Amino acid sequence: MADELHQPANVGGPDWAAYYRHTQGREPRPLFSKGMAALAAVGVQPGQAVEIGFGDGTETRSLLHEGWRVVAVDPTPDAAAALLASVPIPDVGRLEILTSTAEEAALPPFDLLYAGYALSFIRPGAFRRFWRRLRAQLRPGGFIVLNIFGVRDSWAGDPDMTFVARDEVFRMVQGLDVIAIDEEDQDGDSFSGPKHWHLFDIVARRPIEDPA
Ligand SMILES: C[S@@+](CC[C@H](N)C(=O)[O-])C[C@H]1O[C@@H](n2cnc3c(N)ncnc32)[C@H](O)[C@@H]1O
Repeated sequence: MADELHQPANVGGPDWAAYYRHTQGREPRPLFSKGMAALAAVGVQPGQAVEIGFGDGTETRSLLHEGWRVVAVDPTPDAAAALLASVPIPDVGRLEILTSTAEEAALPPFDLLYAGYALSFIRPGAFRRFWRRLRAQLRPGGFIVLNIFGVRDSWAGDPDMTFVARDEVFRMVQGLDVIAIDEEDQDGDSFSGPKHWHLFDIVARRPIEDPA
């Protein structure tokens, strides 16, 4: 795992501004590229995307560049300011920024959800309701491309974060066509030093013929 990843939640919460300075100028995450390749493989045209926890804004900018409308959600005001300042003017009209937690944001119906290293920052007591709302807004034929921390991650003791077991991951994607679930479970580096990474990368699609 690249050593540009985030620092753990700590007393007073993570220093996201420092994290954004650290990640600024990076390439889109491999998971994002993998998700976009899955969409391209079946000829999905740009529609409504949602990014949760957009951070330095790399993936939102890329989606806008490809012609998507994007609702970009992140509770950190620094993230919104930096994103707005960095989006090319022709793309601004297709961007809506919500400075909100994922659990409090009103998500529109969407064709693509991307969330990289962000969903585990949803409080455990709020996660299930958030996930039900997210599934309800996923349009038939729409994709989810996201990752979430597993229960063996070094940070799994943090009471403000959500960690999931493998069987929970499969429950979360029940009813979807799973394109990939990749599990990382190994020691590596992070922004704040060595840690054990336990992470599920998920790419899945709601069936086109899905009346539910
Ligand atoms: C580790 S960063 C990931 C940023 C970016 N996606 C990336 O890959 O670099 C996590 C982001 O999630 C945001 N975040 C924290 N709590 C959140 C919540 N409850 N809902 C949505 N986003 C949250 C933070 O502000 C931060 O920008």
